[in-house]
Amino acid sequence: MSKLLIANLKMNLEYNDILEYKKIIEKSDITNFIICPSNIYLTTLLSKKYPVCAQNGHYLDFGAFTGEVSFKQLKSIGVEYCLIGHSERRNIFDESDDDVRRKLNSCIENGIIPILCVGEHKKDRENELEKEVVSEQLRYALDNLKVDKLIIAYEPVWAIGTGLTPIEEDIISMHSYIKSVVKDNTKDVKVIYGGSVNETNIKDICSLDNVDGVLIGGASNNPNNMLKMYNLVK
Ligand code: PGA
Repeated sequence: MSKLLIANLKMNLEYNDILEYKKIIEKSDITNFIICPSNIYLTTLLSKKYPVCAQNGHYLDFGAFTGEVSFKQLKSIGVEYCLIGHSERRNIFDESDDDVRRKLNSCIENGIIPILCVGEHKKDRENELEKEVVSEQLRYALDNLKVDKLIIAYEPVWAIGTGLTPIEEDIISMHSYIKSVVKDNTKDVKVIYGGSVNETNIKDICSLDNVDGVLIGGASNNPNNMLKMYNLVK
């Protein structure tokens, strides 16, 4: 089974870059690939080759919420996945655990597969609290929820965009721990790693036990680089 590669473009690239990205990816032999662009590019990127993923959604279906986009609306244009609780949402936009839970519920109710992002801050890791922090985030978000299919992205906050990654044993141990925490919520779970994944470390990270794939930020912005990383792990 090949590893799942998810490109999180964040708030990057212009329309012409997106058209070029799509052309390059569609011509390639890449499989098991998901792309998360800004909302305005979701329909542009729709393709038979790969599913598209939103980076956020509002938990109510419709209403007077200027500037927001709901999971129901995302579903209606063909979005199959959505990131929930990315650390940039939690930390820059003050998304609470309650928000994350509401979003996760609405995402599932609307038939979109959630990619739930969890991860500890530097201070938590220094105090050896990473497992506590992550299990709290998971338990709070998932509560008694039963989910058909779930992807969890383990992304230590201190590793995102910093060039730092945890040592291999820590990635393995967190991934197996996360699988044990969510085992009653779903039978179909993939745990992927995110945080400074690039062409120099992707092969090693993807070869680790319990790592089902990777969520790639900065290094995924260039489609040729994305394909290079795919070729390293396929
Ligand atoms: P990064 O971002 O690869 O640039 O560290 C990962 C993410 O935020 O999902």
